[in-house]
Amino acid sequence: MKNVVILGSKGALGGQLLKLYPGATGWDREDADVTDFPTLRDKIAGLERVPEAIINCVAFNDVDGAEDCPEQAFLLNAEVPGELARIARELGVPLVHYSTNYVFDGVQGEYAEADAPAPLSAYGRSKLLGERRIAECGGQWYVLRTAVIFGPKGESVLSKKSFVDIMLDLSRKRDTIQVVADEIGNLTYGPDLAEATRRLLEGLPPAGIYHVTNSGCASWFDCAKEVFRIAGRDATAVPVPATQFPRKAPRPARAVLLNTKLPPLRPWQEALAEFLAGSRP
Ligand SMILES: NC(=O)c1ccc[n+]([C@@H]2O[C@H](COP(=O)([O-])OP(=O)(O)OC[C@H]3O[C@@H](n4cnc5c(N)ncnc54)[C@H](OP(=O)(O)O)[C@@H]3O)[C@@H](O)[C@H]2O)c1
Repeated sequence: MKNVVILGSKGALGGQLLKLYPGATGWDREDADVTDFPTLRDKIAGLERVPEAIINCVAFNDVDGAEDCPEQAFLLNAEVPGELARIARELGVPLVHYSTNYVFDGVQGEYAEADAPAPLSAYGRSKLLGERRIAECGGQWYVLRTAVIFGPKGESVLSKKSFVDIMLDLSRKRDTIQVVADEIGNLTYGPDLAEATRRLLEGLPPAGIYHVTNSGCASWFDCAKEVFRIAGRDATAVPVPATQFPRKAPRPARAVLLNTKLPPLRPWQEALAEFLAGSRP
């Protein structure tokens, strides 16, 4: 499969997908208004070659910001994916969409694909509704739940820095850095997630929800320590509770995605080492 449409192609993940699919049609904010549904449908259906798949990386990703503007979060994270599912079904092609471990409340700690979601935040609720809109629509849909993407930044000027880059930046300025130690989840290297998406589209397993992250789990503190160790930084990570950094949106304390359906990805530490070896911190 070569001829795919990638929406959000200037984001962190979209950029990695575009590298894997050099023949793809990549659209970002300036190329297509994803909230203008009739125009979006005509634009996709009117492509010279009907795409073989639609991959949606557009999202409202500001977890705290979603508490202040839930309408925008629900539009981008729920209604847009629902519309893309309708377009994909009409064209008879698969849709890949990405969701998050924040659809879970963290009480159970570890979650398989079929476990019942219970989001704590507006962001989590909007992403969960997106999953449901897609599933209701039917067709050949894939929702890939992932968590904490790191890796090369997206091309978009608005593309936010990953946690790994924030830690690298802080380690240039400070000797000790306080990092939350009681929130635990998975980590996902953008290029690995892009490659897992490509494999999924080659294999076309049954439609449904899949958990795709690097193997293993970590707290923000564990991750920061590993970043400093691999990058050879002198900075010391100091573990602190999440209550030390009050934020608008509540986060699950331990929402670790278990991948029970696809071949596992390599451990996050290995992927992190590859990323840090290739970047110039
Ligand atoms: N990043 C993570 O840690 C993480 C964790 C769990 C799940 N996910 C999910 O993984 C997927 C990919 O995330 P990502 O980190 O690659 O996201 P990202 O870097 O924020 O990229 C999102 C892309 O969508 C574009 N976009 C936003 N609003 C748009 C609009 N109204 N019209 C058209 N384009 C618009 C953005 O453009 P602008 O830059 O111009 O806004 C950006 O290029 C998302 O579904 C996200 O929810 C991400």
